[in-house]
Amino acid sequence: MCSYCGCDSIEVIGRFMAEHVEIINATGDLRAAVLSGDPGALAAARAVVAGLLWPHTVAEESGLFTVMARDELYADHIATLCGEHETLDTLLAAIAPGDRAAMARFEDALREHIDKEDNGLFPAAAIALDGPDWVEVHAITPHSHDGGEPHVHAPGDEHHRAVAHQG
Ligand SMILES: [Fe+2]
Ligand SMILES: [Fe+2]
Repeated sequence: MCSYCGCDSIEVIGRFMAEHVEIINATGDLRAAVLSGDPGALAAARAVVAGLLWPHTVAEESGLFTVMARDELYADHIATLCGEHETLDTLLAAIAPGDRAAMARFEDALREHIDKEDNGLFPAAAIALDGPDWVEVHAITPHSHDGGEPHVHAPGDEHHRAVAHQG
């Protein structure tokens, strides 16, 4: 995780980094469920991962990625990251009970994707975007647990930060 440039102190990026940790933790439970060979345990653990991962990727794409992709310097890389979101969907769906190889394909792709964001795109965003850009990112990013509708708050609004991590 990036701990050098302070990009995690930007609210949206701090949220995304925290969600990465939640997703990785849920992936550990998924791996245990796959190894158990129990279809019910796998279905439950897969649903937890999906319930964290898809709101997260939608939030990334609808806010930060949309604003950053306007800069042609980042457009190709963001298209790659969006493609990886779709690949992760396919790899997660392909995991069957006891299938360690499929689990490893998903987990490796997930960790590599998260590393590109935490240690690549997010620090780059902290440098590339200015104040009005962040206001826009903030305004068009759906909250984590509100059904995906964007809300408008002032940056640094404590209510926003609290809501983003409830539930
Ligand atoms: Fe992503
Ligand atoms: Fe992410």
